[in-house]
Amino acid sequence: MSDVKEPRVVHVDDWRKAWSEGRNKWHLDHVHPHLEKHVDVAVNGKANAKVLFPFCGKTYDMKWLADKGHEVVGIEGSEVAAKQFGEDHHLQYNVLPIEGTSIKLYKYVEANVRIYVGDVWEFNRSIECNFDTVWDRGGFTIINIDDRKKYIPLIASLMAPHARYMLVIDSYDRNVIHGPPHSVEKEGVDEIFGETFDIKYVDKKDSLKPLQKSWGLTFFDETLYQLTLKL
Ligand SMILES: C[S@@+](CC[C@H](N)C(=O)[O-])C[C@H]1O[C@@H](n2cnc3c(N)ncnc32)[C@H](O)[C@@H]1O
Repeated sequence: MSDVKEPRVVHVDDWRKAWSEGRNKWHLDHVHPHLEKHVDVAVNGKANAKVLFPFCGKTYDMKWLADKGHEVVGIEGSEVAAKQFGEDHHLQYNVLPIEGTSIKLYKYVEANVRIYVGDVWEFNRSIECNFDTVWDRGGFTIINIDDRKKYIPLIASLMAPHARYMLVIDSYDRNVIHGPPHSVEKEGVDEIFGETFDIKYVDKKDSLKPLQKSWGLTFFDETLYQLTLKL
């Protein structure tokens, strides 16, 4: 019998609390395997792509891409995450206010990485836009279901016309747990993104780790899609 669990509604302050209490088990201490394998697809062969990481946390992927010569920009709600990113990679940083907003910009000195620290819903294309690539692992999948209708136009507005939106989608048995992260199947991706983007399947891997096993799951798929703006 189906007993699909209702998703939980989570706010940016809940995430900030999680960071301040050291609860960040989604964080990987290595580059994400999908990015490592498909980096050339992600940056479309460019030597110095401008890459956006919405909901970036302190992902290792940012430093890894910057070391390859790319310009990396994150958006993250927690200042703890931005500070830890600096500490993890021994990077000094300057903190600058973004006028007219409550967002602060963390600019790391020895790496081509900057993180806008603030609520993603306050971010808009007048702050920065024209990204060649968006790398979204743990962004779309964690937002509240009701926020999807504003997330898609936001991301679309930040992309350059031929940019690639690389989206990692999680799929698991929704009878076992509720999100976040929220589970989405292939049909869901078409339904949610199909109006705005052309969608191409790239790769899929079972990423079941002790964390997901502890939730009672027996599979946890991460599927990578390449989305481009419908012209
Ligand atoms: C599941 S984590 C993924 C982090 C990162 N992408 C990774 O792969 O490690 C989601 C991140 O989104 C951040 N976040 C959640 N809500 C946010 C919001 N409204 N604005 C900005 N950041 C937010 C959280 O603080 C957290 O670091």
